[in-house]
Amino acid sequence: MCGITGYIGEMDAKEILLKGLEKLEYRGYDSAGIAVSNEKGVHIFKEKGRIADLRSAVDGEIFAQAGIGHTRWATHGVPSYINAHPHQSTSGRFTLVHNGVIENYTLLMSDYLQDVPFQSDTDSEIIVQLIAKFSEEGLETEDAFHKTINLLKGSYAIALIDVEAPDIIFIAKNKSPLLVGVGDGFNVVASDAMAMIQVTDTFIELMDKEMVILKKNNVTIKNLQGENVTRAPYKAEIDAEDIEKGTYPHYMLKEIDEQPLVIRKIIQAYQNEKDELVVVDDIVKSMKEADRIYIVACGTSYHAGLVGKQFIENMAEIPVEVHVASEFSYNMPLLSAKPLFIFLSQSGETADSRAVLVRIKEMEHRALTITNVPGSTLSREADYTMLLHAGPEIAVASTKAYTAQIAVLAILANVTAKSRGMNLALDLVHELGIIANAMEVLCDTKEEFEKMASEFLPFTRNCFFIGRSLDYFVCLEGALKLKEISYIQAEGFAGGELKHGTIALIEDGTPVIALATQENVNWSIRGNVKEVAARGANTCIISMKGLETEEDRFLLPKVNQLLTPLISVIPLQLIAYYASLHRGCDVDKPRNLAKSVTVE
Ligand code: F6R
Repeated sequence: MCGITGYIGEMDAKEILLKGLEKLEYRGYDSAGIAVSNEKGVHIFKEKGRIADLRSAVDGEIFAQAGIGHTRWATHGVPSYINAHPHQSTSGRFTLVHNGVIENYTLLMSDYLQDVPFQSDTDSEIIVQLIAKFSEEGLETEDAFHKTINLLKGSYAIALIDVEAPDIIFIAKNKSPLLVGVGDGFNVVASDAMAMIQVTDTFIELMDKEMVILKKNNVTIKNLQGENVTRAPYKAEIDAEDIEKGTYPHYMLKEIDEQPLVIRKIIQAYQNEKDELVVVDDIVKSMKEADRIYIVACGTSYHAGLVGKQFIENMAEIPVEVHVASEFSYNMPLLSAKPLFIFLSQSGETADSRAVLVRIKEMEHRALTITNVPGSTLSREADYTMLLHAGPEIAVASTKAYTAQIAVLAILANVTAKSRGMNLALDLVHELGIIANAMEVLCDTKEEFEKMASEFLPFTRNCFFIGRSLDYFVCLEGALKLKEISYIQAEGFAGGELKHGTIALIEDGTPVIALATQENVNWSIRGNVKEVAARGANTCIISMKGLETEEDRFLLPKVNQLLTPLISVIPLQLIAYYASLHRGCDVDKPRNLAKSVTVE
C-alpha cells in the first residue's frame, strides 16, 4: 500500500510526479504529496485526500528538474496533512517518501532520536530524522543513508532528496515493490511500471536490501555491503492505452468487459503450435510429484483458489487445500510429505502471501506463483510462475484477474491430468472458447443487471448471496464485490448452512441472490430460496439454460458445469458495480482500501 515516485532529469518534475501518482493512486488514496527541488531549494506540497486535491494545491509556476512523490494508505497515524508524505528532517535538509512499515521504529526512536521533535505520527519520519542525525554527525549523505537503511527492520521503498545534493535521488528497497525507469537524459523510480510508462518502457528491477544512487544520466545500484551491483534493464510490454479508461466511466466496468478477451488471450498464451494446451514441463512435473497442493491467497484470489481446488481435484485427482495467507503462518496445517504450494496473486506483491512464501521456502518446499505481474516479488521468489495475461487491473475491486486465475488454474489442472494419463472428456480449449462467448453475451446484457441492482439494492443495509457447490464459492466473491464497493453488508453462504443460524437475519425485504448453475444441487438450492422467501426475503435466482424454472430472474448461457464460475460471477460483478453507482460510491477507489496490500 502507498505508492512512491521520483524523477530526475530536465523536464518539469512536478507534472511527471503528479501523473505518476495518478497511476499509483490505486495503492492508496487518503493523502498525497510531492517535493520538488530547484535552485531555490525544496518545495513541498501535500494534501489530505486524492491526487486531484494535491494537483490543485501545487503551485503551477514552480519549475524543478528533480522531485519525489507519495500517495498514502495510512498505517501509522491517521490520514491528515501532517502525516502525509513527503516528510522532512527538522533541519529541512532532507526530504523523504516511504512505502512500507518500519517495525522497529519505537526502538530506533528511543535509541537515536530522543531529543528530536517529531512533526508527524508516522513511522516513516524516523527514517529521514535518522539520516539527518548521521549526516550531522559527519557522514556523507550516501553513508548516512546506507547506515540508516541497515538499521531498519520491516518493509520499505524509500526515495530521499538532499538540498545539498540536488542532482541525486537516494533510493532503497526491502519487501515493498520498487522499479527504476531508465530514460534518455532522465531517470525515474516508482512503485510500479504503470506509473512510469508515460515516460519510458525500459526498467531495472531492484532486489530487497538494495540501494540506488539515481542521477539523470546514471543509475548506481549497491547491495547492503555497499558493493556495486550490475543489472541489465529490460523492456516492459505494457501498452500505455491499457492503463487508460478510454470511453468507460470507470476502470471496473472496462475490466469487466475485458474478460472475454482475457480468456482468449490466456488460451493463446498456453497453446502450442498444434493448438494443444501446454504448461512448462517443470511445473507439470512438480504437480505430478506433489502428494498434496496448498493454494495460498487473499481476498478475491482466495475465492479463485477455492474454485481451482475443484478443478485440480476433479481433473488431476491430486488433493488440494486452500488457505487464507494471513492465517497460514501461525495456523500452518500439518504439511504432507511432498507438498507443492501455489500462490495466487493478481499483484504478486501481497505481503501476507509473501510472508508464507518466505516461510515455506525456508522449509525448502517448492512454489508456483500465478500472477498478473511478471517480475513481481511473488513471481521472482517462487520456483515457477504462470502469468494471467489479463493486462493491468486498475480498479481496486478485482474482476478480470479473478476469472483469469480460474482459467489458468483450469489449464494447469487439465494439462497435469493429461500428463498423468487421465482420459479427460473435457476439451478445455473448446470449452474456454464457449466461455469467452458466453461472457460476451453477459457483458452485452448490462441493463438487466443494472435493473436488478436498482430494484434490490439502493436502500438495503444488507444482502445475502446463496449457492451450493461451485456456486457457493462464486457467492463468496459476489458478496465481497458488493461489500467492498457499495458498503452494503453482504455475505455469501452455502445454501445448506442457512438454517443453521443465518436464516435468523432474514426479514421482510432482505435481498437474497441465489446462484443455481449446478445440476446436482439445483433442487436443493431452490428449496433454500423458498425457505427465505417464506420469511419475507426479496429473492432473485440466477440460473443456467437447461436448469431453468419459472421463478428464475436470469438465465446464464449454457457452459460446461465445472467452468460455470467463469461466467456466473459476471452478473454479480455487474450488480455490485451498479449498486455502487446508484449509491453514489466511488466505484474504482472504495474507502479504506488499496489495490496492492503490501503490509501484513
Ligand atoms: C478484492 C480484491 C482483494 C485482492 C486481495 C489479494 O476485489 O481485489 O481481495 O484479491 O487483496 O490481492 P492479490 O491478488 O494482488 O494478492
